[in-house]
Amino acid sequence: MSDFQYFMIPGPTQLPPDVLGALSAPMVNHRGPEFKEIMDKIHSNLQTIYKTKNDIITLTCSGSGALEASIVNFLNKGDKALVISIGNFGQRYFTICQKYGIDAELIDFAWGEALDPEIVLAKLAADTKHEIKAVIMQHNETSTGVYNNIKAIAEGKKDHPALTIVDAVSSLGACPLETDAWGLDIVVSASQKALMAPPGLAFISVSERAWKIAESCTNNRFYFDLLNAREFKKIGQTPFTPSVTVAYGVLAATERIVKQGIDNYVAEHFLRRDVVRAGIRGLGLQLLADDDCASPAVTTILLPEGIKPEDIREPMRTKFNIIIAGGMGKYKDTTIRIGHIGFMNMGDILVTLACLEMVLKQNGYELELGCGVAAAQKLLMEKL
Ligand SMILES: Cc1ncc(COP(=O)(O)O)c(C=O)c1O
Repeated sequence: MSDFQYFMIPGPTQLPPDVLGALSAPMVNHRGPEFKEIMDKIHSNLQTIYKTKNDIITLTCSGSGALEASIVNFLNKGDKALVISIGNFGQRYFTICQKYGIDAELIDFAWGEALDPEIVLAKLAADTKHEIKAVIMQHNETSTGVYNNIKAIAEGKKDHPALTIVDAVSSLGACPLETDAWGLDIVVSASQKALMAPPGLAFISVSERAWKIAESCTNNRFYFDLLNAREFKKIGQTPFTPSVTVAYGVLAATERIVKQGIDNYVAEHFLRRDVVRAGIRGLGLQLLADDDCASPAVTTILLPEGIKPEDIREPMRTKFNIIIAGGMGKYKDTTIRIGHIGFMNMGDILVTLACLEMVLKQNGYELELGCGVAAAQKLLMEKL
């Protein structure tokens, strides 16, 4: 068996050949003109992908570091905030808020469902004294494969001054995102998902309004001080030694996305989602998310009674070199997740479905070989 792996997980993703090539470039001085040029191009590409004119700050950390930065720079101890959770990463945002002493109210929706804008907007409308300083939410909840209507929150909150803080770690590039048109204040993402680069860099867009709040924020912060990062950005640098090699990868990957066109890249993710869902339904299996909120980045599949995630994941990996993800949180023992984010071909999805059929059959699940692939092909033929 070759050592090529089909990476059907929701990040990190496989890397395109030009990204891999870029990673082997010699080191440059991170305080020199070459690196400035690289970072300027990355930020310009990211502004196109984020659809924003806001500043974008690059941090050397994983996505969670930037989630932390999005709290510690904008909310003081005791500030009220609404944290919307529809799964594992919503809970993570809530935990970060708790660690910093934010007076966070958790609006906890059922795993597998999207946020209900009416419930969130009613909370904001009731806050006539404008005590709520921020609304914090996931754009795409990777743990369940659900995609939130953050536009409804950002636009529906009207003149309520709460900052909108968005975790777009697994959505940037995969879900439609209009940072400026929707008025999103702080949007966090990371290098290793739809951006098709290695893990190691995270990004955060900050609106003018949010910068003003950061300037008066009294929290102690050092590594994640975005005001300091903004000063260094003016001279094309970062406060600390950045992940230079990952930056090479991000530059190559973002050039690809800009060349393809962000809307086309997002549309590709939706087609992949629809093909996966058609294939899974063809197998007779249940999907966790409803059609109207199903993630274009990852699909969560409920396993038949008696079959455990490892019964599927292990043979998929050892027999076919196909890596799929397990479930998370309360769905850990009953679901698997197929990622369809970043660099991949439609053929990878068909291969995954074909192998999944064999593995399910070997686990005693009754099916006609080819039923999942055929359903996926049928949908694909209609769309192509
Ligand atoms: C929606 C979401 N938020 C945050 C994170 C955390 O990112 P990281 O693992 O890079 O810290 C992830 C990672 O999968 C994610 O999917």
